Amino acid sequence: MTTTTTQTQALSKTILGSSRAWWKESSVYQIYPASFKDSNGDGIGDIPGIVSKLDYLKALGVDIVWLSPILQSPQVDMGYDISDYYAIHPPYGTMKDVDELVAGLHARGMKYVMDLVVNHTSDQHEWFKQSRSSKTNEFRDWYIWRKPCYTTDGVRQPPNNWGSYFSGSAWTYDEATDEYYLHLFATEQPDLNWENPKVRAAVHKIMRYWLDKGASGFRLDVINFISKDQRFLDVPIVEPAKPYPEGAKYYACGPRLHEYLQELGSILKEYNAFSVGEMPSVYDPQEILNAVGFERNELGMAFQFEIMDLDHGPAGKFTPGQLRLKELKSVVTKWQSFMYENNGWNALYLENHDQGRSISRFASEKPEFRALSGKMLATFLGLQSGTPFVYQGQEIGMVNLPHSWRIGDFRDLEAINFWNELTQAFPGDEKLQEQTIKELRLKSRDNGRLPMQWGPGEFAEFSPGTAQPWIGVNDDYEKWNAAAQVDDSGSVFNYWANILKLRKEYVDVFVYGSFTLVDKDHEELFVYTRGFGGATAVVVNNFSEKEVKWTVPAELSSVVKGGHFLTGNYEDRQSVGVDGDVIVVKPYEALVVLNKGAKNAI
Ligand code: GLC
Ligand code: CA
Repeated sequence: MTTTTTQTQALSKTILGSSRAWWKESSVYQIYPASFKDSNGDGIGDIPGIVSKLDYLKALGVDIVWLSPILQSPQVDMGYDISDYYAIHPPYGTMKDVDELVAGLHARGMKYVMDLVVNHTSDQHEWFKQSRSSKTNEFRDWYIWRKPCYTTDGVRQPPNNWGSYFSGSAWTYDEATDEYYLHLFATEQPDLNWENPKVRAAVHKIMRYWLDKGASGFRLDVINFISKDQRFLDVPIVEPAKPYPEGAKYYACGPRLHEYLQELGSILKEYNAFSVGEMPSVYDPQEILNAVGFERNELGMAFQFEIMDLDHGPAGKFTPGQLRLKELKSVVTKWQSFMYENNGWNALYLENHDQGRSISRFASEKPEFRALSGKMLATFLGLQSGTPFVYQGQEIGMVNLPHSWRIGDFRDLEAINFWNELTQAFPGDEKLQEQTIKELRLKSRDNGRLPMQWGPGEFAEFSPGTAQPWIGVNDDYEKWNAAAQVDDSGSVFNYWANILKLRKEYVDVFVYGSFTLVDKDHEELFVYTRGFGGATAVVVNNFSEKEVKWTVPAELSSVVKGGHFLTGNYEDRQSVGVDGDVIVVKPYEALVVLNKGAKNAI
């Protein structure tokens, strides 16, 4: 790849260190509060529960703890529908509990990051209650209201054909004022009107309040959707069966996004705060760079979705799709190289509260490969260029929900709405239903929301006593739990801890180094190098259950042959073990080699 002058300048800046930042050298742990730890036996995780596990997080070695929303909410979408930005959802605890959490994190050298959900609010937020009450209310313009359309024979229609991510039209008719309001997600999640400066000022106030309270930054929910193309045009219908297609081309990275993000960025800069924007429906890295370029003063980094989309079927997320290693390589390399060359930054993740578990999706749940898979994925992800995010349970190798689950066991509205639409459209089609359950088990959001498995006791010791958690517990917890792993040096937990430690020990190579894909056409192995000055690390990951004889490419031969063996997921490999030019890479094996003298070279 040829680099332009600007790219070269950016590169040398990175190397000289002017683009260094504390949040690049950190790792993040995401907590889904309802499912992390219940302290009082009501079956729902809570903030005192989190406080009781801070030493566990410290032992893992993460620097930042991000909590999915804990603010007051009717919980239509598990807290992503906020009805008061200054109050805590009572089942989670009180403001005092939050203060304790923040103090407990700070005492252990960790930081608190809050989920900021401001593309929309709950329909129970006072602003929306006011807004819907009349066309002349002072809050009317805080949301997006439009007049109905009518067909030639007088049937009322939404203002345009944009679909909601959670089924049907993105517009809901409100009889009181004879207009529709926009909600890209559930009906109960009306979108805020960011064109209105008062809305933006209200968001800025919320940010300052929480930063002053000790938050070190934010994860910004669907932040690239906040600026909508004000023409509100229809999107072309591609599939007649889908009358409400995704309207993303008119609101993903919309016309005024960067103006709004710069406003947020100046507050973030004032506090030297962390920020990660969630940015779905973007596939051009330049679009994301425009928000995360180091000198843009907008956001620190963003979650892009291209890896998450790789196993979606042609007709949508819950239709069968096939993950191909070559595609994974090409997507990973595209983002890794682009951000490095252009002084941007990646947020690295394979799991979160909206996704299936990575072992189940990207590697193998088979008993003989499960721990190896978890460790291999930790190596693969944790040593890339960017800030790594670990989602609760990922560090102990939790997998997707049990095969025995039927639709009645699901709790997430996305899965339930999808099922209802499907069974209405194709009543009695049992084969389709079976296939859909299978897909839900792979990709539904509930997979990541099962209670954290703390110990072998009842309900995985998620709740005290025998209280039943709000959602089913996985049936493998007697063997797969945190208690069994923390003190076992060979566990997935301790493997993750070691990967996070290596990033700190070799910060130049693993945080600030370049990324190069090796052997791009190899069918089983995903090999890459990280380089900085005279140091080169080679990271080998076997994504298959085959044993592979890998011929080390000539240009890496001296690094690999003479290098230090840094880590690996097979206990019996204590050295690189090259025979001639060949390394025998075992099923789901991961191994990392650093060239000799690298420490001095850095
Ligand atoms: C984000 C959240 C998801 C939520 C949606 C609407 O994608 O991660 O959980 O449902 O935004 O707020
Ligand atoms: Ca509780």
